Amino acid sequence: MSLPSAELPAPLSAAIEARLEGRAQTMLRERARRLSEGYRARQSTLETIRDEADALAYAATRMPATYAAIVTALGRLKEACPVFAPRRMLDAGCGLGAAAAAAATAWPSVDEIAFLDRSALFLRFATELMKESGPASTIEAIQADFAEAQAIEAAPFDLVVVGYALTEIAESKLPAVVDRLWAQTSGALVIVEPGTPRDHARLMGVRSRLLALGANIIAPCPHQAPCPLMAPDWCHFSVRLPRRRAHRLVKGADAPFEDEKFAYLAVGRFGPDAPPSARIIGPRRANKIGVSLKLCADKAFRETFIPKRDKPRYEQIRRKDWGDPLRAPAEEI
Ligand SMILES: C[S@@+](CC[C@H](N)C(=O)[O-])C[C@H]1O[C@@H](n2cnc3c(N)ncnc32)[C@H](O)[C@@H]1O
Repeated sequence: MSLPSAELPAPLSAAIEARLEGRAQTMLRERARRLSEGYRARQSTLETIRDEADALAYAATRMPATYAAIVTALGRLKEACPVFAPRRMLDAGCGLGAAAAAAATAWPSVDEIAFLDRSALFLRFATELMKESGPASTIEAIQADFAEAQAIEAAPFDLVVVGYALTEIAESKLPAVVDRLWAQTSGALVIVEPGTPRDHARLMGVRSRLLALGANIIAPCPHQAPCPLMAPDWCHFSVRLPRRRAHRLVKGADAPFEDEKFAYLAVGRFGPDAPPSARIIGPRRANKIGVSLKLCADKAFRETFIPKRDKPRYEQIRRKDWGDPLRAPAEEI
């Protein structure tokens, strides 16, 4: 099964580009520069995005990348659980709705979307963009702070996705937030975070918490045991996305693509159909005589070299890359 395209769906790009039209390029570029400085300084979105122009700069320069990472993580969930077909989904910390758009791409069955954010500006924007470009027939906007002890007043959702939002939650509040999100999940919960050592470490804390609550790990880990990686190593993935013209102009960048690094965790009330024996957790390094792979396998982390002359083993991994699951028995990889 191939992963969904990492590119923003054309109707969504068109809806964003229509809003960028007529806005001064220099102003948008300045907002985008401030935005990335703010995120680099670990400011929250609330501090960084203060008005519509900031939100537009986010739409042009960050949303294509967060969408690409989220749709890839959802593709991994779909690959592991091909019969799962969510209908109601919650996009928690929705921003402009990248996770809802990604879920609608991954599963045409999604027809009811709830956006949750503490920002009224984002909720309005996400709702408008989805109405203009998405297939969902029912859209609800919930203005709430999910770090506060208020219940989310909605029945549990088939799918809950949190994209690049837990990273903004204080460490002390994370366990309660995770408990709340899990309580809202009747099917699967997917968390996508920036691919940094800090966010990986926090995600592993979240993973332990979810395991204690009875969740099944679906991806990326091929097992339910404690994460075998030791700092300073960390588990993250990468997705290449094309930069459309508006993206390049507002970012002031020439390259026609960028690589987004992300960490993710997909858990469920159900487990994967057939757990893989391993997952490739680093870029493949190939040379004339074979390929080196970094694997999370068999509850342990290991590096393996597969020479080309070992034809049966080489054949199994020839087309595999960073992020892919492997299904061969662990001792054969
Ligand atoms: C970096 S943006 C990510 C937006 C979107 N999910 C994406 O992937 O493009 C983080 C979002 O989480 C929201 N957020 C952060 N903390 C929140 C909280 N405690 N309650 C509700 N929303 C929150 C912010 O308002 C912002 O929209």
